[in-house]
Order: sequence, then C-alpha cells, then structure tokens
Amino acid sequence: MVGSLVVTAFWAMLPAYVPNNAAVLAGGGRPIDGGRSWGGRRVLGDGKTWRGTAVGTLVGVLLAVGLNAINDPISSGLEFALPTFPLHAAFGLAFGAMLGDIGASFIKRRSGRERGAAFPGLDQLDFVVGALLLAFVVASDWFLATFTPAVLAVILIMTPILHVGTNIVAYKIGVKNEPW
Ligand code: CTP
Ligand code: MG
Repeated sequence: MVGSLVVTAFWAMLPAYVPNNAAVLAGGGRPIDGGRSWGGRRVLGDGKTWRGTAVGTLVGVLLAVGLNAINDPISSGLEFALPTFPLHAAFGLAFGAMLGDIGASFIKRRSGRERGAAFPGLDQLDFVVGALLLAFVVASDWFLATFTPAVLAVILIMTPILHVGTNIVAYKIGVKNEPW
C-alpha cells in the first residue's frame, strides 16, 4: 500500500522533477529578466535563462511521452496501474516546475539573496508547488484522479529528500555550482 503510493507519486512527478535538472545542464544564454533590476536588485538573476526554461520544459514533456510508452509493460507487472500523462498534463507539470523555480528566484532577489544563495524550504518545494498548481489549472480532472490526498502527502515528504540528494550529486560531479 505505502509502496504503491510511493511508486505512483514518483512516477507522476517525474515530468516535474527532471526539468530543473535539465535546466542546470542546458542553462546559459540570455537571462529571462534581460539583465533588468527592480528596487536595486535583479528581477530574477542570471540563473534563470530562456534556454534553461525551454529545454527543461521540453525534456519534461518528452519524458512524460516516454513514460506513457512504457506504462503498459510496467503496470502489467504491478498490482496497480501507473498514471499516464495527457500532453496538457505533462506540459503543466514540466512548465509549472520551471515557473515555480522562477517564482522562487523572484522571491529570493526581493529578499536580498544573491544568485545561488540558499533559501531552505523554498528551494526544495518551489517547483513542486508550481508543477502541481499548473497541472491543476490546465488538467484539473486528470489532476484530481491522479493526485489523491495520500499521493500528495507522499510527494510533499519525498520531494525535499530527492531534491537534496540529486543536488548534492550534481554538485559533486561538477554540474551544479552549489549543493542546493
Ligand atoms: N537554469 C536556467 N534556467 C532556469 C533554471 C535554471 O538556465 N529556468 C540554470 C542556470 O544556469 C542556473 C542553474 O540552472 O544557474 C542552477 O539552477 P538554480 O539553482 O535554480 O539557479 P541559481 O543559479 O542557483 O539561481 P537562483 O538563486 O536564482 O536559484
Ligand atoms: Mg540555486
């Protein structure tokens, strides 16, 4: 029971987890805020780029398409069916994750934190909140069928742990500047 919840939560959130990591690898180029400041601070900072956002979103959507393709053989070996992703739901999860991360940078800059500064709590959950909100907005029926209260609870506990873990690995192998 708990095992199926964890597997379902992880599967359903993969198109939201991967975009931020893809953005780290793809980042660079023109910042979204165009270098502009607001109140003496950058609006978003150089860490939020058009390329990172576009590639991250695309990778998340493509991943969902790939997960759909392998759903049947995997679900048939389980006692429960893994969720499939309609395209608009996949887009909501992936782009929502990027938007959540961008929103967090906006908040970080407004609170005086420079690019790369840690903001515990916000760093670990910004993209989850963004992904879930946008998925709910663009695919409410799918959202309500997929993210039951129990699945949501697992996501809120599991995501910060996964996020901290992957960022430490990304830092150690040299693809990320900070371990958060
Ligand atoms: N990145 C990007 N576009 C995004 C998100 C991330 O290009 N929308 C890339 C940037 O190269 C960024 C790196 O991924 O530096 C790491 O992402 P993140 O930790 O979110 O950015 P930070 O540089 O730490 O900046 P911030 O303090 O604003 O989070
Ligand atoms: Mg950062």
